[in-house]
Amino acid sequence: MMARNEQKMKGKLEVLEKRFPKITTRAVVCDFSDVCVIADYRKIVEEQLSDIDIGVVCLNAGIATEGPVALISDQELENEIRVNGLHPVYLGKVLLETLMNRKQRSALIVTASIMSFMVNPGGCAYSSTKAFVSNFWQGVHFEAKDKVDVLVWTCGGVRTKIFADSIGAEGAAKL
Ligand SMILES: NC(=O)c1ccc[n+]([C@@H]2O[C@H](COP(=O)([O-])OP(=O)(O)OC[C@H]3O[C@@H](n4cnc5c(N)ncnc54)[C@H](OP(=O)(O)O)[C@@H]3O)[C@@H](O)[C@H]2O)c1
Repeated sequence: MMARNEQKMKGKLEVLEKRFPKITTRAVVCDFSDVCVIADYRKIVEEQLSDIDIGVVCLNAGIATEGPVALISDQELENEIRVNGLHPVYLGKVLLETLMNRKQRSALIVTASIMSFMVNPGGCAYSSTKAFVSNFWQGVHFEAKDKVDVLVWTCGGVRTKIFADSIGAEGAAKL
């Protein structure tokens, strides 16, 4: 598992290990809003994951910033583009290369969003990054289909932490 919050990640892995005692897990700390180039993702994968035979990759992390582009901060916009747009493409490319070299069939699943189909004033970075990764990985599906099943999940609304993180707990409770 790769995530930014080591304590939370370890808690989730402990739950999985208790439920499935035969599995082994590994926590790799990575804040996707800090990584901007493929070379950095390649270094993380080479140093921390190259000894594992990865068969299924799920690229799920995402954030949602609310507000008109002219009013949100530079950092909010950059973070959203890095987390929602760059990480699924850059980390996904590095891991796709390892999947393509496996003997067995593999899978790569990217969480996009129903918002990838919509123009979304007030959430332009969200819908456009989701459209970007959705289009990108749908193309890769055809390139890789002899060896890897590539699935883009364009899910609809689900009550999760993403809303509280973007519009606050009070607003999220009204959804
Ligand atoms: N909820 C919906 O209605 C909905 C609809 C369509 C698509 N989606 C997509 O579904 C995916 C999962 O979201 P969710 O709804 O389950 O919300 P969530 O509970 O907030 O999950 C988002 C995950 O992304 C991680 N993340 C955020 N920023 C990160 C960063 N800089 N580095 C590493 N990890 C980071 C979060 O880690 P922390 O726990 O450390 O915050 C969290 O585990 C996202 O891609 C989202 O866009 C959600």
